[in-house]
Amino acid sequence: MHKSSVLAVASAFLFSTAPAATIPRNDGDVLIDDLVGYEASAARISKISSTDVEEVIVTEEQLRVNGTGQRLEPFIPEGLAVDKRFINGEDDRYYYSSYAYPWSAIGRIAYENGIRCSGAMVGPRHVLTASHCRQSGVKGTFTPGYDSGVALAQATIDGYLTLTSGEGSACGVRNDFVIFSLDDVIGLKTGYLGVKKNDKAYIGKGGFTHVGYPGDLGNYQKPYRIDNVNITTREWNCDGTGPFYTDADVAAGQSGGPLFETIDGLPYIWGALSTSYQYMDEVWNGWGSGENMVDAVSFALNYWKVIVGNETMGPGPVVPS
Ligand SMILES: *[C@@H]1O[C@H](CO)[C@@H](O)[C@H](O)[C@H]1NC(C)=O
Ligand SMILES: *[C@@H]1O[C@H](CO)[C@@H](O)[C@H](O)[C@H]1NC(C)=O
Ligand SMILES: *[C@@H]1O[C@H](CO)[C@@H](O)[C@H](O)[C@H]1NC(C)=O
Repeated sequence: MHKSSVLAVASAFLFSTAPAATIPRNDGDVLIDDLVGYEASAARISKISSTDVEEVIVTEEQLRVNGTGQRLEPFIPEGLAVDKRFINGEDDRYYYSSYAYPWSAIGRIAYENGIRCSGAMVGPRHVLTASHCRQSGVKGTFTPGYDSGVALAQATIDGYLTLTSGEGSACGVRNDFVIFSLDDVIGLKTGYLGVKKNDKAYIGKGGFTHVGYPGDLGNYQKPYRIDNVNITTREWNCDGTGPFYTDADVAAGQSGGPLFETIDGLPYIWGALSTSYQYMDEVWNGWGSGENMVDAVSFALNYWKVIVGNETMGPGPVVPS
């Protein structure tokens, strides 16, 4: 994903078929360029959907009421195969289609207006993606395990929870996440990933995994995976707690896709892909992340609560023994 440009910092959100929204960097001369993501010809006029979408806008103060900002546990349904392979060493994106966990819980977001993004289940009916992947008045679906029209499950987005904080800065990148609620508890079938606060001790380290549905490879139809993504040494320039940056190869459609760390064989999401930057021939990506993200997932799990038997599903350790 390199494109030559001289003395220009370009940044672009990575959702499909919409004007590339841009985030100015805080430092230096900024030249915004629609680096990726704009395919006007593919955009379609959409009728307002009859689906009612509940909009929940929370403040950081509300998130702090119950939030610890640290980590939430994943869930693997009984009987679902677990993929033990988290092979490191691949440099680039590669096609990887599987219904084994955690790939079962990562999928594609598709709106009737043609917008495409990526995301992951983080609760029984909860999807984490980038906030800029949110569309108003347009019906959208989440399809985990999606591959070329075939999927493990599908549900319609019927609500979203996001922060009041706006875009337009490094803090905007950090807060560029949203939790969708779905009209079905498909996470009980697909499982869901844990989430975790990013940690400065990992700066300069690799071993992270990203999955998304890029347009340039597979035309938003196929899951692509990158192993051994590195947390770059670039400054965490919102307030020192984020956003974090990586060196992943990304393109339109991968927006909102998870970056996860594997701890004891279980996946914990550090962030949802927000944006990509370019300075000369260097390319890097910023991620919606941090305590706000962890607490927002926790808040959403409580707000759109799912009770199975007599047990509330998440937050908290819910991996069956
Ligand atoms: C905090 O947690 C309690 C107990 O689970 C819950 O009843 C309450 O709604 C939560 N408050 C917020 C703001 O999340
Ligand atoms: C992470 O860094 C290592 C060492 O520089 C490099 O070999 C690898 O390709 C990087 N990973 C990605 C996904 O680019
Ligand atoms: C929930 O159900 C299990 C078994 O069905 C039972 O052992 C447990 O006591 C119940 N817990 C509560 C709080 O009712």
